[in-house]
Amino acid sequence: MTTRTRILTGITTTGTPHLGNYAGAIRPAIVASRDSNADSFYFLADYHALIKCDDPLRIQRSRLEIAATWLAGGLDVDRVTFYRQSDIPEIPELTWLLTCVAAKGLLNRAHAYKASVDKNVETGEDPDAGITMGLYSYPVLMAADILMFNAHKVPVGRDQIQHVEMARDIGQRFNHLFGQGKEFFTMPEALIEESVATLPGLDGRKMSKSYDNTIPLFSSAKDMKDAISRIVTDSRAPGEAKDPDNSHLFTLFQAFATPAQADEFRSELLQGLGWGEAKNRLFQLLDNELGESRERYQQLIERPADLEDILQHGAKKARAVATPFLQELREAVGLRSFVAQTQVAATTKKKAAKAARFVSFREDDSFRFRLLAADGEQLLLSRNFADGKTAGQVTKQLQAGQPLDVRSEDLSFSVWLEGECVADSPAFADSAARDTAIDALRIALTPIQE
Ligand code: TRP
Repeated sequence: MTTRTRILTGITTTGTPHLGNYAGAIRPAIVASRDSNADSFYFLADYHALIKCDDPLRIQRSRLEIAATWLAGGLDVDRVTFYRQSDIPEIPELTWLLTCVAAKGLLNRAHAYKASVDKNVETGEDPDAGITMGLYSYPVLMAADILMFNAHKVPVGRDQIQHVEMARDIGQRFNHLFGQGKEFFTMPEALIEESVATLPGLDGRKMSKSYDNTIPLFSSAKDMKDAISRIVTDSRAPGEAKDPDNSHLFTLFQAFATPAQADEFRSELLQGLGWGEAKNRLFQLLDNELGESRERYQQLIERPADLEDILQHGAKKARAVATPFLQELREAVGLRSFVAQTQVAATTKKKAAKAARFVSFREDDSFRFRLLAADGEQLLLSRNFADGKTAGQVTKQLQAGQPLDVRSEDLSFSVWLEGECVADSPAFADSAARDTAIDALRIALTPIQE
């Protein structure tokens, strides 16, 4: 059996996916998940979203939209494990275990945190102004996401490479401290898809919400058309030759076209196709490519209960991995059940109590005791002691956990304390019965550890 490559990535739920997200991350991830060699874990990083956003409605809306986008885009949830981070309580728990081994100095070096500090310093603020522990610990939460599922490959943008490296660092430290030779965590590797398109936005800069230059993905055909009409072009009139290689409209077209379609569009532009018409062609292409998915998206958004079910199912799948693994990790750090231990003690005690008991009695002027096995059979009969106190001390000493001095003689045995014989067994039927009785005696006299 070959082990499949576990691919894991999270999507922070603070916005609505746009065309750039789709081409750059969503589409390639869905394609990758179809590889029979891939065991994909994709999740909504909604705990991470809380670090960046304190608007509950936006968080909620974004989770819904991102879930619907991935499903509408063709993600097969029977094939992959698709879940919300916040449905996996093991994640914050693991985050804490990792927080306790993560070096503060490591987190001091995180780009996102450092950038915030630098900005504060620049503007003369307190270095930590406005910085939450959430932002500071962001890489530890992300390490928990990755390590919990022992991901081999983590597809991320360049800005996240450092976080994956930190996950390695933290995981290694945990392995070293608690693994006792066992590697709990697999060392993950960041996967940067060089070939994946970074789409230009309306103004030609990278398509990004922060530049406000995005083309919406699934909202409506009209929204998409409106955005396309705002793509910035040069001022060449219809009939003038256009330069496809310096047109981000062409770049956008190319990202969704077959090579043949792209070639055709290129020659049309060279032959003087007007920009208005060119925008129509781009809209037609995108609408063909995405129209069906858009419909599926709208249907999914209208049935949030179905989406909820799908994600709950995903959470179940993820927790089938996370719950037992976290249990192992808890054990490793010493968070172990008392019950398991006291149960051992309690059963031993019970068994021992049931297995044997001392019975003391008086005989003429002396004091003696018997040790009876569970079934009432006599294991030992003591010698005669001058007083009850001495007899009591002997029974106590026999149970004190010292090595027992048992001496066999033919079909019986005797027990000695400090060079003196204190008790004898009866005669047994054969030496096997005698040895069984000696074993029973040893067990009966083993002190109970608590
Ligand atoms: N921090 C990632 C981002 O902003 C999202 C994310 C959270 C993630 N947890 C992850 C990505 C685990 C990969 C693996 O893009």
